[in-house]
Amino acid sequence: MAPAVIVVGAGGNLGPSIVRALLVHKEDFRRVAILAAPEKKGKFADFEAQGVELVIGDYKDSNPYQGFDVVISLTGNDIMKFQPQMIDAAVAAGVRHFYPSEFGVDICQPPFLSERYFRDKHVTRKHLRAKAKEVPEFCFTYIIIGVFAESFALTPVFGVDQAKKEFTFYGDLESERSFSSMADTARYTVESILIPLPPGHQERTLQVPNGNWKVKDAIKILGEVQGLQYTCSTKPLNEARELQEKSRQSGDTDGELAFSLKALFGTPYSIVPKPWDNSKFSFAPMTLREMFISFYEK
Ligand SMILES: NC(=O)c1ccc[n+]([C@@H]2O[C@H](COP(=O)([O-])OP(=O)(O)OC[C@H]3O[C@@H](n4cnc5c(N)ncnc54)[C@H](OP(=O)(O)O)[C@@H]3O)[C@@H](O)[C@H]2O)c1
Repeated sequence: MAPAVIVVGAGGNLGPSIVRALLVHKEDFRRVAILAAPEKKGKFADFEAQGVELVIGDYKDSNPYQGFDVVISLTGNDIMKFQPQMIDAAVAAGVRHFYPSEFGVDICQPPFLSERYFRDKHVTRKHLRAKAKEVPEFCFTYIIIGVFAESFALTPVFGVDQAKKEFTFYGDLESERSFSSMADTARYTVESILIPLPPGHQERTLQVPNGNWKVKDAIKILGEVQGLQYTCSTKPLNEARELQEKSRQSGDTDGELAFSLKALFGTPYSIVPKPWDNSKFSFAPMTLREMFISFYEK
């Protein structure tokens, strides 16, 4: 039977791309739904008009997940820590495949095991493994993509200051990073629902970045697409770490997370290790130039 899929956190940065990709494959799914808090119902009217079902409820309760096979969790940082509760609620309702809110780098690389930015993602991973031991039919998939080109270009924390035409990086500009587009990541995620896990496996990691580019080339391409030339400056990685620690000590969690993210983007570990899984899917991913062009065209 075709799976029924529900998305949590559909209205954020990544959510709309995931819902659009589900709509493209609508025929392959029994139900395509968004879980929305009552006060956020109106936020999803466009998707509702396109045939997406709205399920109103609390993502920590079991009821909204009744009748669904697959949950795609796109929770943002503020509610990431509630994913274990969400998993328990979903599994109790009968969900058998969970996509946790990952969509970044390989957090199991040794330097990332204690990275502040990934604390709640590690707790979630541990919980998923424990749940899989309890429920043999339960499985989960991690989607690993590196850095979103959209976030690199538009979120100041990655160092791009478009107004000042400046780029600040806590690392080596010659080093490579894995970049991805939200649209292609959404296509990989949605197509992967239709690819069963190998028999006997409950855990799957799909490494599907669009590709690797040197940081200096990424900022050059972004500038070319925007018709700008960025002045690049680099800072030592430990400076970001010191500022992260200072923020932590002063109780500034946003600052702590921001400098943790700058530092982790600066380390060479934020490249997605090979082998990659792109060839298991039906399409060729966009280049970095195509990604930048695609989201500035909208
Ligand atoms: N690799 C990268 O470069 C990169 C960049 C960005 C994100 N990501 C990853 O992608 C995943 C999704 O991130 P995102 O940026 O799309 O997340 P987001 O926009 O910050 O949040 C996603 C959704 O989470 C819900 N949410 C967030 N804060 C909430 C709160 N305080 N109360 C209730 N609901 C709240 C909202 O759901 P509703 O829509 O239902 O209101 C929101 O739309 C995360 O795992 C993130 O780490 C990776």
